[in-house]
Amino acid sequence: MKNILVTGGAGYIGSHTCLSLLNKNYKVFVIDSFINSSQKSMERILEINKNSAINHNKNLSVFEGDITDMKFLKKVFLELENQQIKIDGVIHFAGLKAVSESVYNPLIYWNTNLIGTLNLLEIVKKINCKTFVFSSSATIYADAKDNSRLTESSKINPVNPYGNTKASIERLLRDVSQSSKEKWKFASLRYFNPIGAHPSGLIGENPIGIPNNLFPLIINTAYGIQKELKIFGNNYPTKDGTAVRDFIHVMDLADIHVKVLEFMINSSPINLNLNIGTGLGTSVLDLVKTFERVNNIKVPFSFTDRRIGDNGYVVADNSLCKSKLKIKSFRSIEDMCRDGWKWRKLNPNGYLE
Ligand SMILES: NC(=O)c1ccc[n+]([C@@H]2O[C@H](COP(=O)([O-])OP(=O)(O)OC[C@H]3O[C@@H](n4cnc5c(N)ncnc54)[C@H](O)[C@@H]3O)[C@@H](O)[C@H]2O)c1
Repeated sequence: MKNILVTGGAGYIGSHTCLSLLNKNYKVFVIDSFINSSQKSMERILEINKNSAINHNKNLSVFEGDITDMKFLKKVFLELENQQIKIDGVIHFAGLKAVSESVYNPLIYWNTNLIGTLNLLEIVKKINCKTFVFSSSATIYADAKDNSRLTESSKINPVNPYGNTKASIERLLRDVSQSSKEKWKFASLRYFNPIGAHPSGLIGENPIGIPNNLFPLIINTAYGIQKELKIFGNNYPTKDGTAVRDFIHVMDLADIHVKVLEFMINSSPINLNLNIGTGLGTSVLDLVKTFERVNNIKVPFSFTDRRIGDNGYVVADNSLCKSKLKIKSFRSIEDMCRDGWKWRKLNPNGYLE
């Protein structure tokens, strides 16, 4: 049985990935400060698996603390060493992710995302664990001028501090992997737009504060928390004028992390950058209509001006990911809308009682 350290494991993508790891018989060690999540997500994972033949209680441990705090990280690794636990791989989700907040608070974003990653690399190097999966983002790409899919070699040009931190960490990983002495295995996963939730409705996205992203805003509108959804721009050069994005079900994304880890554990040293999307473009309007249809609920909307910095067409060329990880199919937009709404209906206040 392999031991995997998951930073930010209580968060949206992290909690779904912990579930996938446990189901594949990995032992999971989560580090999370719970700044944007709740301990409850960990309890819910165990609840989902309560009838499983594997004892998941025994295979999930949680350390509460901040990855920018080196003293805390040293304590965690000392504890693992004392228990003779050897970490075989790291999946590094922990970080701050709100683009607009990063514009107002760049120092906090650089500190958490960059210093947190540096600390982690420093400490995993000491314990000789060199398999490291990093949560990057499609926000690092420059605008695709002609509505073409983005490949891993498309131009990198982030337009906000959040994207700058992700692109810089990718550069850091490249430098470290090129250093001749070390034999690292890195994967930077450039997520496109993860949405949806586990089909049980027990875990899902738990945004603290007012959400920034489209899907939580659709859900809030359907729930009546806001009167209507503002759609930014209806004059993009797309089929209905609204922006086109590449949505991926969070369960597919979670399973992909396990596949990446398995690929890396068996590979020679590597620095892999992978686009993680379905390769299918869905317009904002299409997403709203699909949500209304599968959930039989209205999402009132109106159009407003384009948002500065938004691109019209952001869709992954995912051929590298599909071929490397042998992925044949993805869950549908209908699944994403149904599962995301179920999570919200069962948990109107997220993980709060
Ligand atoms: N959700 C998306 O649309 C998306 C898209 C692209 C990339 N990403 C990246 O994927 C990763 C996970 O995203 P998510 O949507 O699950 O976000 P999330 O906020 O739900 O999860 C992040 C987790 O990290 C924890 N965390 C934050 N700062 C920490 C710190 N200093 N120390 C310890 N824990 C800390 C939070 O409490 C949370 O549990 C992030 O790095 C994010 O930037 C997300």
